[in-house]
Amino acid sequence: MITVKNDFLRTSLLALTVFLSQSSLAATIKAGDPSLQKWLLPAEVPQPQDNRLTPERIELGKMLFWDTRLSGDGNMSCASCHNPLYGWSDGLPTARGSKSRVLDRASPVVTNSAYNAVQMWDGRKRTLEEQAMGPMEATVEMNMDIGRLFKWLKSNRGYRQAFERAYPGEGINQSTLSRAIASYERTIISNNSPFDRWVKGEAKAMSEQQVRGFEIFLDQDRGNCAVCHSAPNFVDNGFHNLGLASYGNENPDMGRFTQLPLPRMKGAFKTPTLRDISLSAPYFHDGSAATLMDVMQTYADRGYVEGNISPEIERINLSEQDMHDLVAFMQALTTPRKPVTLPILPLE
Ligand code: HEC
Ligand code: HEC
Repeated sequence: MITVKNDFLRTSLLALTVFLSQSSLAATIKAGDPSLQKWLLPAEVPQPQDNRLTPERIELGKMLFWDTRLSGDGNMSCASCHNPLYGWSDGLPTARGSKSRVLDRASPVVTNSAYNAVQMWDGRKRTLEEQAMGPMEATVEMNMDIGRLFKWLKSNRGYRQAFERAYPGEGINQSTLSRAIASYERTIISNNSPFDRWVKGEAKAMSEQQVRGFEIFLDQDRGNCAVCHSAPNFVDNGFHNLGLASYGNENPDMGRFTQLPLPRMKGAFKTPTLRDISLSAPYFHDGSAATLMDVMQTYADRGYVEGNISPEIERINLSEQDMHDLVAFMQALTTPRKPVTLPILPLE
């Protein structure tokens, strides 16, 4: 047993305890901490050299994104499935396409997709420009005859003028159409949530529970969430199998494996952003989680179908309280909503 013999030693011991308790305090994260700054999105949204953002491009893209005349039956636009009312998804477990057909995968949000290096659940597109024509051409989605589409756009005076303002001298074609839609999508951004304000130093922006949730999120022996939902957009541009129940179906959706036939890509899907996540229920590519708490249960159970579950999922260790704290944290990732103004569509 140690007995403290003199005042000097006693003071140093005291100093040591104070130091130790301070350093354990320092281990809990503080609003504004320099190590957190990597979670802030770059102020300028990434834009390709040949498609810098201009107000004219954004305005044209917005018209196209909301115009149902870009679909075969004239009743569906991009916004039918990527609607701001549902956090830029559609509120459905899986998308509903042409003639109300129920599709196999959920409509992902387009929020912050400008910051991501891969698009689609299986990563089959890289850029927003590459992605944009797909839904119009797909018979199960907008089911539009592309020849007819361009003929119509060219016959419409309002669109002719809007294309000319956005891309002077370039005409109306797949390239200008895709670049315009991508420009509008680059304005669908969430970067001013309570979490962002807390990262910038506003200590009261998140509740104690939300900060606790963030600590669990980072802790590799509890949430282990940040290995995949990484800074700054809560994505790793990677693909993982979470062992969802649907992977046990006969002929399950193979996800990334359909694009990249490596065994570990079987049933692996793209890590989605968690920014604005409270707005876009239900969750997962198969819509199998109705609420964020259901998502947490899936992680607490470390998936349901063995075979190819990501090793990072097997590390997760969550108590009931941790699940509630994580949900509270994710609710702090939503940027206050601004009203979305609808475009004025040219009649002729
Ligand atoms: C019928 C519903 C529907 C319509 C209409 C639709 N989408 Fe989608 N969108 C989806 C689904 C479902 C996916 C995911 C498909 C997949 O991964 O296989 C998707 C994926 C995307 C993605 C990739 C997002 C990400 O995080 O991977 C973008 C961007 C996108 N759509 C934009 C558009 C644009 C632009 C239009 C209009 C030209 C459009 N969508 C029309 C349902 C729809
Ligand atoms: C191994 C990588 C990985 C880890 C670890 C991980 N996630 Fe995920 N997360 C994903 C992938 C991949 C998906 C989409 C899976 C799918 O739909 O098949 C996803 C989906 C989600 C969704 C639903 C998003 C949506 O738009 O549908 C939420 C919410 C979520 N994760 C939160 C978390 C939290 C909280 C943790 C920590 C407890 C966590 N994740 C840990 C990779 C991961």
